[in-house]
Amino acid sequence: MAFYSLKDRTHDCSALRASDIDSEVILMGWVAARRNFGGAVFVDLRDRSGTTQIVFLSEKSEDLLSSAQTLRFEDVIAVRGRVISRGDNATEKIATGAIEVEVEELQVFSQSDPLPFPVRNDVNASLETRLKYRYLDLRRPEIQNNIITRSRFVSFVRNYLVQNGFLEIETPYMVKYTPGGARNFLVPSRINRGNFYALAESPQIYKQLLMVAGMEKYFQIAKCFRDEDPRQDRQLEFTQIDLEMSFADENDIMNLVEGMILHGFSSLGLEFMNNPFPKITWEDAMRLYGCDKPDTRFDMPHVVLDSFAAKSGIGILESAAEQGSLIKGICVKGEQERFSRKTIDQLTEFVKKEEIGGAKGLIWLKHGPDNTFTGSVSKLLTEEKSHELMKLLDSKDGDTIFIVADKPSVTHKVMDNLRRHLAAFLNLTDNKKYSALWVVRFPMFEQNSEGDWVSCHHPFTHPVPEHVSMLDSESKGDVRALAYDLVINGNEVGGGSVRIHNPETQATVFKALGISDDEAQRLFGFLLEAFRYGVPPHAGFAAGLDRLSMLITGADSIRDVIAFPKTVTGADLLTGAPTPVIEKQLNELGITVKPTDS
Ligand code: AMO
Repeated sequence: MAFYSLKDRTHDCSALRASDIDSEVILMGWVAARRNFGGAVFVDLRDRSGTTQIVFLSEKSEDLLSSAQTLRFEDVIAVRGRVISRGDNATEKIATGAIEVEVEELQVFSQSDPLPFPVRNDVNASLETRLKYRYLDLRRPEIQNNIITRSRFVSFVRNYLVQNGFLEIETPYMVKYTPGGARNFLVPSRINRGNFYALAESPQIYKQLLMVAGMEKYFQIAKCFRDEDPRQDRQLEFTQIDLEMSFADENDIMNLVEGMILHGFSSLGLEFMNNPFPKITWEDAMRLYGCDKPDTRFDMPHVVLDSFAAKSGIGILESAAEQGSLIKGICVKGEQERFSRKTIDQLTEFVKKEEIGGAKGLIWLKHGPDNTFTGSVSKLLTEEKSHELMKLLDSKDGDTIFIVADKPSVTHKVMDNLRRHLAAFLNLTDNKKYSALWVVRFPMFEQNSEGDWVSCHHPFTHPVPEHVSMLDSESKGDVRALAYDLVINGNEVGGGSVRIHNPETQATVFKALGISDDEAQRLFGFLLEAFRYGVPPHAGFAAGLDRLSMLITGADSIRDVIAFPKTVTGADLLTGAPTPVIEKQLNELGITVKPTDS
């Protein structure tokens, strides 16, 4: 028997409507459900576009009916038949709900074994099982739609960049190892035994070289590899929409990226609450939200209460202020009845958790009628001080105030987490709403746990021009960079910077990072040399495509927008990677593996 093929297919499984009644059609897909009713068998036929109900009737053919009775979930079939009305059984739940197809011919392409879990949205299989059988998981409409939406988004972005004069250029994944930044994966070279490539953590250096090469506007949908601990929004290999532009300053890049994001989102029918995207300095973001990626779908800013605390009359706040603590308050508007004693106790336990920041405690005050407070420290506040606090936090009758006093890093972290937690508790985080924000003027350097100065972004980031003279001074911690991050709904979805193209500035930055001239030559000599042959000023940006895909699909986990993701321990459960290799392979690569101590 000759099987039907694509050219014979008349419609996909989401196409047929009442206007198609009486047409003869050929459909192909998977058996998503089968219902037996004696003289009739109903099957939901599914392809990636949707489902169509098909019906096998005994009055048409007993043979057909008995073949239909043996169909199993996820068999792959083709049917030829006639479109008929579902009459009173019509449903609006699916696009094809007005019709069904009365089958006249059935072809079974392949049969499925019993399934490890049913292919449907409300799957109750464990994550491990889902990832082991990822090809089945990917058939579930929910995940399939994520992958489809991601693909559409990429095509809108690609079109936008091409329309704006960008060239899509690939750069190597196997690159020279350079220290700093994320930990690299290493690839041993068989031909040059004992030598290693690194897997690119981003195309950063190559895209700068493309600017030297006169390409002017580059982009790439690039895989990046970072040996970090995977998290809810982090994978070992992930994808960037990476771009670089010559002769551009920071506003040129931000305008372009903003246009790209707005185009990508609006092409999917998604709108932003704020357009154009506001800009805020890193300093202000830390003061108002305690973090550099605030969620701005809701308000609830932090208010610094250091001066108030110093003369508040509340012993713990006064001594905290004296010890140089940072004291911040937050005012929750209305909904006071939701903050019962039990809820406040739970919030207090929450802020004390190590992963939340480990605050020592949480001060709370409820603003009542007649401008009075009740709460943990209300009795210690004079009327005048109460009114001062109300004014500072703009609190009104029915509002609730929370205060944390601790080391600045602890207060920022705890209050950031508390703000997000309160917003979730009060249902202020609708994931169908989008709020974007540019965070600009990041610090140039930070001190790592060993006390060494490292780049916050990367060593090619341009300092704010007025700060160049501070680079090799005591105040290098105050130097700000021409670096910007794009934040959407509290997620860092991308970042970039203006690059240094002046060799003297670059040398001073290396010096500030403790990189000697010799070392700079050894690590980045090829780039510094390239810059001697005519380099345009340039700037760029990279957006995290996986994180953007989470936002446009509403997925909770980065795994739900990646076709073949890895687990939190970096495993690919479908193929079993990573796996041991045989000693001969290691010998060829010149690698000896010593047992670890642990
Ligand atoms: P950066 O390191 O900030 O910048 O990365 C840019 C964006 O990539 C995403 N991202 C990740 N997504 C998933 N899993 C990860 N492990 C992961 N790490 C980063 C984030 C982030 O904002 N070369 C520079 C860009 C530039 O300066 O042009 C860079 O890579 O959304």
